[in-house]
Amino acid sequence: MSGPRAPIWIMRQAGRYLPEYRKIKDRSSFLEMTHDPAIAAEITLLPLRRFPLDAAIIFSDIMTPLEALGVAVQFKPGPSIAGPLRSREAIEELGLREEIAPFVGEALRIVRAELPPEVALIGFAGAPLTLAAYLIEGGGSKDYEHFRRFLRREPAATHVLLDKLTDMTIRYLQMQIAAGADAVQLFDSWAGLHDLRTFEEFGAPYNVRIMSALAGAGAVRIYFALGAAHLIDAIATIPVEMVGVDWRTELGAARARLPGKALQGNLDPAYLFSERRTLAAEAERVLRSGLGGAHSFNLGHGIWPDTPLDAVAQLVEIVQAYARA
Ligand code: CP3
Repeated sequence: MSGPRAPIWIMRQAGRYLPEYRKIKDRSSFLEMTHDPAIAAEITLLPLRRFPLDAAIIFSDIMTPLEALGVAVQFKPGPSIAGPLRSREAIEELGLREEIAPFVGEALRIVRAELPPEVALIGFAGAPLTLAAYLIEGGGSKDYEHFRRFLRREPAATHVLLDKLTDMTIRYLQMQIAAGADAVQLFDSWAGLHDLRTFEEFGAPYNVRIMSALAGAGAVRIYFALGAAHLIDAIATIPVEMVGVDWRTELGAARARLPGKALQGNLDPAYLFSERRTLAAEAERVLRSGLGGAHSFNLGHGIWPDTPLDAVAQLVEIVQAYARA
């Protein structure tokens, strides 16, 4: 296969730049928005109502399923944990106490029923190493010092945590596939914090376990890590059909290191603020660099909240014209 298949969809916070999203946000908290299946389904569909995209990504968050393990998560707007896990005892207390986010399954069913059959529905989860970073740190951070200290001081307890998160994530993604997800994407947003050896011990094996468990489940498996070019050979061992590539890595260079994988990516979201000619030239450069294998055009990371709508419209037009050519 060559050329872009599924020409464009835009990942993460797909609806956040739309005026309709801001209206919903004015009357509901992020927790209500993610927990009410009707609202989550509506937000998921917002971008599709405006643009002819090829896929929708379910509106939720990587932290959402952690509630089922007994963790209270708030959003400010980044995730925040009231009692960060900083001891082996705290990790040992974690256990599934309820069904994992059944409202996400319900939202997926609503969206699937509304989407035309040719539009793919993408479910997702956070990778264990990334979830562990938030859980131990207590929230987002530049260097994740608490987490990295804990990982060095308590490697065995860290493995216990990663193991629990892996079991939970397998069940969560199986539930999403049963509810109608055509693809499932594992977001490893903080994989890039680690050196290759650390990722090979604490990251890759758990991602391999999750994706192996989903083999043959009938969904396209996608793995995405941010700022992780130095980890690409370990990423190549994860059994997935598609790898998401961030804007820093050239698609052609990633292709050579990821034999047999379709690529997703990778326009720098900041180009949506550039002049029209600049945006067009860069979009075409990304499309050309994706040639040579299966490519699903996407941004190289989440779209920014105040992105101009006309730039998104222009980008969709460019990518679709290229796909038809
Ligand atoms: O496109 C979509 O609407 C999909 C929904 C989606 C959200 N978060 C909604 C959200 C997806 C796929 C995510 C994934 C996610 N969440 C990741 C992995 C992807 C990545 O970017 O690397 C991570 C690391 C998180 C954790 C998280 N949640 C952060 C860091 C933040 C705040 C950061 C920011 O950009 O403001 C959130 C909050 C969040 N998740 C919002 C949305 C729409 C913003 C809430 C708001 O203020 O409206």
